Amino acid sequence: MQSSALPKHVAIIMDGNGRWAARRGLPRMAGHRAGIASVRRVVEHASDAGIRCLTLYAFSSDNWRRPSAEVQSIFWLLRAFLRLQTARLRDRGARLEVIGRRDRLPAAALSAIENSERATADGTGLHLRVAIDYSSRDAIARAAFHAADALGPRRFMSPDLFGPMLMRSLTADCGDVDLLIRTGGEKRLSDFLLWECAYAELLFTDRMWPEFDESDLDAAIADFSHRQRRFGAVPEPAPALNSAVACT
Ligand code: IPE
Ligand code: IPE
Ligand code: MG
Repeated sequence: MQSSALPKHVAIIMDGNGRWAARRGLPRMAGHRAGIASVRRVVEHASDAGIRCLTLYAFSSDNWRRPSAEVQSIFWLLRAFLRLQTARLRDRGARLEVIGRRDRLPAAALSAIENSERATADGTGLHLRVAIDYSSRDAIARAAFHAADALGPRRFMSPDLFGPMLMRSLTADCGDVDLLIRTGGEKRLSDFLLWECAYAELLFTDRMWPEFDESDLDAAIADFSHRQRRFGAVPEPAPALNSAVACT
């Protein structure tokens, strides 16, 4: 049993950019642009709040199915974000890491990602992971493929062995998700961190991602702090009043 004020690892499915724009009579691209401003606000606030790890779902492997103009605009915005924010991230001691497939990314986006990762590699503050061309099923399947080699003569597999193989991060400060937030009103995982969310506290909000701000993150953290995490066990009984009296 655990209840903790601050989640160590927060993951966010940043959904609702398109609908936010449509409601204002704007093109979807305007929603993605406004979404970038939310990313900046939330990253800085998470870092100030002392969150260890923040994983943001920015582009799923299924998002390749969108019109190519939208896909191009998303990668253009990603590059602009990295160009403008890398120095700020480095200055506040954050470390940026992109998770997901890299072999299908546009070359310019890949090199921007690699530059930012290099520039922030020594950060010991917030570990910011951005999921791009990410599919949790794909990540699990690939880790399972490599696990077969790593096992060697042992013919045994367990979650404790497999988990680290899946979470290829060397710093091990991420691991399981404590709090998963999805904006935009949908209540599904859309192939995001399926393994890592085994015991995540789930929070779904109708706020569209471009509307999500510091106070929404604070409210999500406050909600988390009131959840009782049981991990399959039973709640510890509250100390009985008369036994406390008997001890005095
Ligand atoms: C999330 O917003 C951003 C990405 C998936 C890249 P959407 O673009 O999915 O916004 P809605 O769900 O259409 O409103
Ligand atoms: C999930 O949102 C992916 C990201 C937020 C990057 P989608 O909008 O792609 O998910 P579905 O299609 O509604 O499940
Ligand atoms: Mg969506």
